[in-house]
Amino acid sequence: MKALENIAVRAARKAGDYLLQSTEKLGQFKAESKGANDYVSTVDRKAESIIINTIARNYPDHAILAEESGSHGEHEYQWVIDPLDGTTNFLHGIPHYAVSIAVRHKGRTQVGVIFDPVRNELFTATRGSGAQLNNQRLRVSRAQSLRDTILSTGFPFRNKRRMPEYQRIFNALFEDCSDMRRAGSAALDLAWVAAGRVDGFWEFDLSDWDTAAGALMVSEAGGMVGDLSGNPGFDKADSILAANPKLYKVILQKIR
Ligand code: IPD
Ligand code: CA
Ligand code: CA
Repeated sequence: MKALENIAVRAARKAGDYLLQSTEKLGQFKAESKGANDYVSTVDRKAESIIINTIARNYPDHAILAEESGSHGEHEYQWVIDPLDGTTNFLHGIPHYAVSIAVRHKGRTQVGVIFDPVRNELFTATRGSGAQLNNQRLRVSRAQSLRDTILSTGFPFRNKRRMPEYQRIFNALFEDCSDMRRAGSAALDLAWVAAGRVDGFWEFDLSDWDTAAGALMVSEAGGMVGDLSGNPGFDKADSILAANPKLYKVILQKIR
């Protein structure tokens, strides 16, 4: 597993460095209408090809599931890739985005790497070996109730019809928690739960590439990941909830 993690780290760093360099040129394209949008799509695809090329050089047979190029190949090992998580932030020059790479073996995530190039923060996790930030061991927060907690979330901006349902949950949690954050990168939201910077995270309708690495990170840091109905399998679910095991239950009770 260490070998897989090393390659995932190499790929994430390469793509992250490329993203960081690309922010410098964003200003030029922002002047034209649509210019910045097209530029960001190009950056997205280029970052993805940097990652896929790095993987292919080492594991040419492995399967890939990547946000921009979709699913290709069939193999016990599958790499799940989000080359740029936080595109809207990136597009607007908000320095909060990440590269997310996970490796699954027979459908089970074994390795997760999330790289935040702006802060030079590298989050890594290997099943059974814990989660680290720049090689320091991570632990989820110890909060036993919603009091004094900060929860992070993402708004259902792609499916605004879910807003009433979203608001019901938001209102229930906001009653008891200290505050809420919407930072704009689900991968970093999960990494930050693992790091104990935020106490919990919840969102609707994410995709595998948003959550695969981050979910392993949270569970390897002692947390729990499931959906907002309390099911542990969130892969095919329409929502995700991550927190320490006690807070996970408290949140479920509060929104029931
Ligand atoms: C998005 C971010 C965002 C979340 C969205 C995701 P993208 O990923 O993770 O925080 O709210 O639902 O799709 O599109 O920037 O890769
Ligand atoms: Ca994403
Ligand atoms: Ca993306």
